[in-house]
Amino acid sequence: MNSKVKVLGFAGSLREDSYNKMLLNAAIELKPDNVELETFDLEGIPLFNQDQEEQPPKRVKEFKEKIKAADALFIATPEYNYSVPGVLKNAIDWASRPYGDNVFDEKPVAVMSASEGMLGGARAQYHLRQTLISLNMHPLNRPEVIVSQIDEKIDANGKVVDEKTRKKIGKVLEALVAWTERVRK
Ligand SMILES: Cc1cc2nc3c(=O)[nH]c(=O)nc-3n(C[C@H](O)[C@H](O)[C@H](O)COP(=O)(O)O)c2cc1C
Repeated sequence: MNSKVKVLGFAGSLREDSYNKMLLNAAIELKPDNVELETFDLEGIPLFNQDQEEQPPKRVKEFKEKIKAADALFIATPEYNYSVPGVLKNAIDWASRPYGDNVFDEKPVAVMSASEGMLGGARAQYHLRQTLISLNMHPLNRPEVIVSQIDEKIDANGKVVDEKTRKKIGKVLEALVAWTERVRK
């Protein structure tokens, strides 16, 4: 793949000052030159209602179109009660439907998580990875980006300043590009 790799990033948080959105902002800063990274805010996606899956709401249609157009996805998620936030699972459920129009099918995907706690959202990542498999996606195994104590790794403007974390984010994007090329072969 010689042209740019189009990556769509989204965070499993609607919070304006979301740490996970900060990780995606850092990724935009640190991405390799051959990556185009666009982000999508899950704000405005209503609760899933299967009665509407054939004619989904406008925001869901937009989300599905962005996913279809992307070569790979990049998800940054918080951990809620040892699992994936409902906001993220709900958005994934919409975009996986109706049957036969799962826009995640065969997409390579990388995952990161952040929390103020010691485990950095690791448990949510493993629940998320299980869902990604059910969607027939191709999750990147390594490097794992699990950012613990994120509040100590950002500056007053919400920029990720911790060097190790920045390096990891750059590396995972490089690995996602290589993985996308492998999956496409
Ligand atoms: C409903 C709820 C449940 C949470 N459960 C966990 C948890 O199980 N493990 C954890 O490490 N943090 C938990 N947290 C803390 C979040 O990980 C933390 O608020 C994180 O910053 C949210 O991500 P964001 O900054 O991207 O919005 C929880 C927060 C909320 C609001």
